[in-house]
Amino acid sequence: MTTKKALRIGLIGCGFMGRTHSNGYLRVKNFFPELAYQPVLKAVCSRTESKARAFAEQWGYESVETDWKALIARDDIDAVDICTPNDKHAEIAIAAAAAGKMILCEKPLARTLRESADMVAAIEKAKVPNTVWYNYRRLPAVTLAKQIIDSGKLGRIFHYRANFLQDWTINASLPQGGEGLWRMDAEVAGSGVLGDLLSHCIDTALWLNGSITTVSAMTETFVKERMHQLTGKVEKVNIDDACSFMCRFSNGSLGLFESTRYARGHKALYTFEINGEHASIRWDLHDLNRLEFFDNADASTLKGWRSIHVTDGDQPYMNKWWVPGLGIGYEHSFVHQVADFLKSLEDGSSCSPTFREAFETQKVCQAVLDSADTGTWKDTHAA
Ligand SMILES: NC(=O)c1ccc[n+]([C@@H]2O[C@H](COP(=O)([O-])OP(=O)(O)OC[C@H]3O[C@@H](n4cnc5c(N)ncnc54)[C@H](O)[C@@H]3O)[C@@H](O)[C@H]2O)c1
Repeated sequence: MTTKKALRIGLIGCGFMGRTHSNGYLRVKNFFPELAYQPVLKAVCSRTESKARAFAEQWGYESVETDWKALIARDDIDAVDICTPNDKHAEIAIAAAAAGKMILCEKPLARTLRESADMVAAIEKAKVPNTVWYNYRRLPAVTLAKQIIDSGKLGRIFHYRANFLQDWTINASLPQGGEGLWRMDAEVAGSGVLGDLLSHCIDTALWLNGSITTVSAMTETFVKERMHQLTGKVEKVNIDDACSFMCRFSNGSLGLFESTRYARGHKALYTFEINGEHASIRWDLHDLNRLEFFDNADASTLKGWRSIHVTDGDQPYMNKWWVPGLGIGYEHSFVHQVADFLKSLEDGSSCSPTFREAFETQKVCQAVLDSADTGTWKDTHAA
């Protein structure tokens, strides 16, 4: 048996993402046995000790902390994984970088561009390996889309279109803020659907289609006041319930992005479509193993949208899983990101998106908010 190098993980926050990441750390050794590094679940931090203990027992963490500062101060932690709500990302990441820890941070990088800039500065000063969990890049069909685009098959790109639609906040009596509902509180989340959902679409778009130069946006808050869970008072809602923007990419293509939590009937409809001179591509999270592809070079009698079931061993990541024809799920994108992070430690590369790359998404988000506020076009480099 080959001896693996240990990557000792300290996880902060044991909610939804704490679970997906823990699953990623546990699965990676079984499915990526060639990697030199192997995660060791050293410690998990929750403010409530009983919650931390229950999580540690369920997922196999060796120890618990109730203060993230104590976790960062430990000598037996190599990498800090930030799975808290957005308001804690900057403070934890900056402290972890100063302590020389590697950092895996959930998206969006932070609440504001200012916080994000401070995080990038801290991590670059510390020169520690880092990554941001924009996990959709690592679904095989999305990675295949990237390979097809980079091969030039689409030719010149004209249009990029993306949606992320949900419907869980339509009920006007849903409170805002506090455990489970922090996404509704701008103080904690920074923004609404923009940072929560559209940031994913923006990250994918920047990766697939290059930089965005200028944006024109609108936002709306449909329910203006909600009871705040922490104060018990009815308070103004400051998040965007819906956000749409159009933009220009530096490659000359036009973009349209829409996100809302008021699209009745949609739980997590993330789709994108890219139209090029020679071919088009589209993808839908609800059918995540499938990539649709239209090639204008096909014979006219056969021309049509191909539905590619991305499960073949020749397709990205799929030689790690079952046999051709058998699909994988949402959780596998996190296993892939762990594997790519471990690989980057081995070969000295970086695991995209790094904090610096995720900062580009923040710039677009800031320009979107500024544009919606002013009703004018905004340059992303001016954000
Ligand atoms: N990559 C993705 O697809 C994806 C999906 C969902 C959420 N996220 C991001 O992940 C982060 C967490 O979201 P979530 O859905 O897991 O939220 P969640 O509410 O399910 O979990 C957050 C956890 O952090 C804990 N927490 C809060 N403050 C803390 C502190 N000071 N110390 C320790 N623990 C603390 C909470 O008690 C909770 O258990 C957010 O930044 C969110 O935007 C990313």
